[in-house]
Amino acid sequence: MIYEHIRTETDGRVARITLDRPEAMNALSVALMEEVGQALALFGADDGVGAVIITGNEKAFAAGADIKDMARLDYTAAMTRDFPFNAGGWEALNRFRKPVIAAVSGVCLGGGCELAMACDLIIAADNARFGQPEVKLGIMPGAGGTQRLVRAIGKAKAMELCLTGRMMDAGEAERAGLVAFVTPLDSLQERALETARTIAGHSLPSTMMIKESVNQAFESPLSSGLVFERRLFQGTFATADQAEGMAAFVEKRRPDFSHR
Ligand code: CAA
Repeated sequence: MIYEHIRTETDGRVARITLDRPEAMNALSVALMEEVGQALALFGADDGVGAVIITGNEKAFAAGADIKDMARLDYTAAMTRDFPFNAGGWEALNRFRKPVIAAVSGVCLGGGCELAMACDLIIAADNARFGQPEVKLGIMPGAGGTQRLVRAIGKAKAMELCLTGRMMDAGEAERAGLVAFVTPLDSLQERALETARTIAGHSLPSTMMIKESVNQAFESPLSSGLVFERRLFQGTFATADQAEGMAAFVEKRRPDFSHR
C-alpha cells in the first residue's frame, strides 16, 4: 500500500503507523486520517499483527486537526459531513480491537492529543507536550478531548487544560495519569517497540479481551463491568492459548501461543 501522509511498517507481530506531514507538524488532515483508517483496516485483518504503534516525529506527534482545512468549514458542512469523523481513521481507531500504543514526542495538541487518547496507552518522550488548545481558535475539542481527558486525569485538570488551552509537559502528564511512562527522547521508539512486542507476544485473544474489558470500565456501572469481565475471563478457557499458557507454566518453559 502506498501512502502520502503516513508511513507503515511491520516488525514481527508489531505494526507501526508513522504520521508523516513534518511540514505541518503532522496536522491531521482529512486525507491523513483516511490513510490511518486504511492502515488500521489492513492491520486489523492481518492475523500476523498483535499490536500497533502510532507515532510521529521528534517535534510533533500531531499539532491537531488541520487548521487550514478547518478554516474553510462552516457549520452546515461540519455537521452534515460529521467533521472530523468524515475521515475514516477516527472511527477505525475507536473500533480497532487489537492493542494500540501512542508513542508521543514533541507536540501532541488538539486532535493530536485526542488521537493519542483514543489509543490504548500513551508512552511519552521527555520532550512531549500535551494540550487541548482549541479554545484559542474560538472552537472546542471535537474528537474526544472533553470526554477522554476528563476520564484520564479528572475534572479539575481537564477543565483547566481545555478552558485555558495550556500545554502540560511529559512529567505533568505522567503524574496526572495521562501517560503510562516517560522515557528519554532517544529511547522512545525502542521502549514503545519493546512494550508492543511484549503485548504482541501474549495470546491475541487474551489481549483483545483485556482491551475490551478495560474499555468497558468507562461504559458501564461496576456491577455490570464485573460480570462482563468474568464472562470474558471464563471464555479464555475455550482457547488453545489458555491450555498452552498454563502447561508452559507447569512445565517451566516459555509458552508458544498460537493466538487461537
Ligand atoms: N494545522 C495546520 N497547520 C499547522 C498546524 C495545524 N494544527 N500546526 C502547525 N501547523 C503548521 C504551521 O502553520 C506552520 O506551517 P508554515 O510553515 O507553512 O507556516 C508549520 O506547521 C510549523 O508551525 P509553526 O511555525 O507554528 O511552529 P512553532 O514551533 O512555532 O509552533 C505549535 C508549533 C505550537 C504546534 C503551533 O504550530 C500551534 O500552536 N499549532 C496549532 C495547535 C492547535 O491549535 N491545535 C488544535 C487544532 S484544532 C483541533 O484539533 C480540533 C479537534 O479537536 C478535532
